[in-house]
Amino acid sequence: MNRTILVTGGAGYIGSHTCVALLEAGYSVVVADDLRNSKEESLKRVEKITGKPVPLYPIDVSDEIALDRVFGQHHFDAVIHFAGLKAVGESVAEPLLYYRNNLNATISLLSCMLRHHVNVLVFSSSATVYRDITSPISEEQEKGCTNPYGWTKLMSEQIITDTVKTNPNLSAILLRYFNPIGAHDSGLIGEDPNGIPNNLLPYITKVAGGKLDKVHVFGNDYDTKDGTGVRDYIHVVDLANGHLAALDYAFSHTGTEAFNLGTGNGYSVLEVIDAYRKASGAEVPYVIDPRRPGDVAQNFANPKRAHDLLHWEAKRDIMNMCATSYHWQQLNPNGYEES
Ligand code: NAD
Ligand code: UD1
Repeated sequence: MNRTILVTGGAGYIGSHTCVALLEAGYSVVVADDLRNSKEESLKRVEKITGKPVPLYPIDVSDEIALDRVFGQHHFDAVIHFAGLKAVGESVAEPLLYYRNNLNATISLLSCMLRHHVNVLVFSSSATVYRDITSPISEEQEKGCTNPYGWTKLMSEQIITDTVKTNPNLSAILLRYFNPIGAHDSGLIGEDPNGIPNNLLPYITKVAGGKLDKVHVFGNDYDTKDGTGVRDYIHVVDLANGHLAALDYAFSHTGTEAFNLGTGNGYSVLEVIDAYRKASGAEVPYVIDPRRPGDVAQNFANPKRAHDLLHWEAKRDIMNMCATSYHWQQLNPNGYEES
């Protein structure tokens, strides 16, 4: 059966990789993305990789009238909801921007789904929803956030859960991503952040590519294996496949379920720098700086629930994450800009 999936935010980093996975699995996709943090070129690359069309509606998903028109033009079997702003620091500086965009997008989407009898939703949540980060982190650990971005994820989870409770035909999967990195093997799509990256991997990638001088390691006095922060890095292609597994589950269940998507392995900043050097053969100079405010020592997933119920697990290792990231950088030194 050919199913059609609405992918909000599908032109972005995780969305574009998930569109490839969906198309390769035989789904049709329609993307709604106003390109505020992405380029249409990413979807052209998805078309190039898969040889299949990716229709784009360049709308703000929180504009319910515009979104309703898209629902009127297609029969969607499910929605994957990536659209949202995601920069933690920016969310602290501009909380209303984040609450308005991320919450209105979720509400507008659920309203259209109910009106058009679309019953299946997969939502991009984050490991940032956990207050108790005793690792490995299980889904039932205590929730709570330290910044507005995180709250928009936790509040969206609540809005979705409450909506599903009163609409028994609905099925929603909340996917709590750990730290997605890496790029598609083709090197045609990857992470293309604006300006100087905040996150570790895009920063290392720019250093390895000669665009930035050196990596600033934020603290080497944590209580971890080598004193630097430890995180659960997950390859974006594994993450994309997690969405396929979530869809399969959602098509045969109702109610709301939450799953961690992580590898269950923690790597320190120095281990990641070392892996990147080995995978790329490039120099990655670094300097130790003070801790970044708000950072925690370590944080990694217990991914057992996703193994048991979704029959999914991450397959790619840190070397592959670094190698594909470098490949994307080498082929696209200015991201999507040049083409
Ligand atoms: P991204 O910025 O590359 O992709 C998000 C896309 O949504 C962008 O293309 C942007 O243009 C679009 N968008 C934002 N608001 C919109 C709106 N109102 N209407 C239409 N389009 C809109 O980010 P990403 O890394 O691909 O993340 C995708 C989702 O996963 C986000 O919801 C993010 O919060 C979540 N997430 C990401 C990470 C991560 O580390 N990348 C971790 C946990 C959760
Ligand atoms: C951050 C966000 C989190 C979001 C995630 C997306 C914060 C506090 N948290 O997580 O909400 O879901 O990104 O992937 O911003 N590091 C350096 N030098 C750098 C950058 C990072 O040493 O230039 C270190 C950090 O201290 C941390 C590790 O690298 O130990 C990973 O950092 P980062 O990639 O920013 O991710 P998180 O902080 O885990």
